[in-house]
Amino acid sequence: MTEIAKMPIIAPPNSASELNMPAMPTVVVTTVTHWTETLFSFTTERPPSFRIRSGEFAMIGLYDEAARPITRAYSIASANWDDRLAFYSIIVPDGTLTPRLRHIGVGDRIILRPKATGTLVLDRLRAGKRLYLLSSGTGIAPFIALIRDPETYDRFDEVILTHTCRTNAELAYGKHQVDSTLKHPLVGTMAMPALRYVPTVTRDSGRYVGRITHLLRTGQLHGWLDLPQFDPKYDRVMVCGSIGLNQDMKGILTKAGFCEGSLTNPAEFVVERAFVGEERVL
Ligand SMILES: Cc1cc2nc3c(=O)[nH]c(=O)nc-3n(C[C@H](O)[C@H](O)[C@H](O)COP(=O)(O)OP(=O)(O)OC[C@H]3O[C@@H](n4cnc5c(N)ncnc54)[C@H](O)[C@@H]3O)c2cc1C
Ligand SMILES: NC(=O)c1ccc[n+]([C@@H]2O[C@H](COP(=O)([O-])OP(=O)(O)OC[C@H]3O[C@@H](n4cnc5c(N)ncnc54)[C@H](OP(=O)(O)O)[C@@H]3O)[C@@H](O)[C@H]2O)c1
Repeated sequence: MTEIAKMPIIAPPNSASELNMPAMPTVVVTTVTHWTETLFSFTTERPPSFRIRSGEFAMIGLYDEAARPITRAYSIASANWDDRLAFYSIIVPDGTLTPRLRHIGVGDRIILRPKATGTLVLDRLRAGKRLYLLSSGTGIAPFIALIRDPETYDRFDEVILTHTCRTNAELAYGKHQVDSTLKHPLVGTMAMPALRYVPTVTRDSGRYVGRITHLLRTGQLHGWLDLPQFDPKYDRVMVCGSIGLNQDMKGILTKAGFCEGSLTNPAEFVVERAFVGEERVL
């Protein structure tokens, strides 16, 4: 892979007057873990006033060399009860933020804009029996928050998390998070009988191989799980992946009779992009 030059992390300006604009709120990084050459996770302190619903995203970032803030949307991978905030990040070699963000260390400050939002929240779904959380790449992050939230298990008898990556190495973060959730003193006893996890790869060998869309169309996923095919009467679905994955999943779900939910009209599925493609909307 291309070597990414080390870029300096610029401390945020000390006062608004330096930039002639209000400084953005920042938080201190408390842990950093690198999983592959292009994937890492980190945690920060959580301001007491920062309210979240599990599954939401926030705008985080750094200041560049000219002390201009660079912020991007990031799913929060910690549940609403957690006293720290967790994030999972790709490193895009020619990206603006991530070649800088990859160098953060414990004690550094990052920008955290004070509002979280997003569609992957339980309140957008009608009551149901099973909750499917279907993700690819860094799209697993909001679902780590949801599998760590006791409310998920209050609302659903079964929770099925799928994560599709190109290679087995890219599954490591998700496997670790699922494992630690099952062992967690607060949610472990609720997750253990309800949570099922299907990690799949598309360009590697493994127990489960194939795009989730293919595994659903062929009935393989439900076959492995020994569950009935999708039924809007009982099943609720959250999707978080690339634009292509999201569009293909919307097609599959709509064809099966599922409707997209909102806060005013909770329904059977919700979708959120794990990243923006060529155009930027945030
Ligand atoms: C709602 C939402 C939630 C997001 N949550 C996360 C998250 O939890 N973790 C995370 O790493 N990113 C997440 N992103 C993407 C994130 O906002 C940035 O795009 C990413 O950090 C790269 O920033 P950049 O400035 O280095 O590159 P950008 O200029 O932002 O992106 C350059 C290109 O890299 C590709 N890309 C960007 N992000 C990703 C990604 N995550 N996976 C695969 N390809 C990507 C796209 O092709 C994009 O056009 C999210 C985006 C949205 C819209
Ligand atoms: N991860 C890498 O090794 C790698 C290498 C070079 C470049 N990149 C670039 O880095 C960015 C992120 O890569 P990424 O691997 O995290 O994300 P990605 O390209 O979105 O792929 C993640 C997973 O989702 C699957 N997928 C993609 N589109 C799908 C669809 N329409 N329906 C169902 N499944 C779908 C992929 O399967 P398929 O493998 O079948 O596509 C892959 O297993 C992309 O822009 C990519 O081009 C990544």
